[in-house]
Amino acid sequence: MAILEMRFLPDPILRRKAVKVAKITPQLKKLVENMVETMRDQSGVGLAANQVGSLQKVAVIETPDMEEPMVLINPEIIKAEGERQVTEGCLSVPGWRGTVNRSEKIKVKAMGLDGKIYRLNADELLAQALEHEIDHLNGILYIDHLIDHESLWKISDHPEEEELDVEDDDGEEPAESIVAETSASVSDD
Ligand code: NI
Repeated sequence: MAILEMRFLPDPILRRKAVKVAKITPQLKKLVENMVETMRDQSGVGLAANQVGSLQKVAVIETPDMEEPMVLINPEIIKAEGERQVTEGCLSVPGWRGTVNRSEKIKVKAMGLDGKIYRLNADELLAQALEHEIDHLNGILYIDHLIDHESLWKISDHPEEEELDVEDDDGEEPAESIVAETSASVSDD
């Protein structure tokens, strides 16, 4: 396994659409393994292939309450309902956070590494992470969903928020302040 090189904004690969995977190959399995290792190394909740320089339609997600990472090949959102505002960050946009609109509940269709299609209902952090990673595979970033122009801020300008995040790790946390790719303030309730 290996830790892959991260791509950051404004790398154009983050704005490209990933290409559907036709076949599960040993190379694809290796990419997935390395993506999981890279996601963990970065303390992320999810990672899409574009973020490590690949345009294969693959993403991985691992929320704090998961026993093993979820592998999503050719994922698509087949149903979305409701709307909520959440705080979000992205490993490819380091140092920033924003408030975005996300769905309350979604249904996703994807293929696993075994080549089988599965469907999954999700809400809360998992729904947010799924929307975030599937967006990546379509060249979309969370900053495209900001509720308004003022809703993007530098983490360093909000030191009090960082302190809050640290406390949140061993206490409860408002459901609205979950961050898709930064484990520091993730809610696992
Ligand atoms: Ni991201």
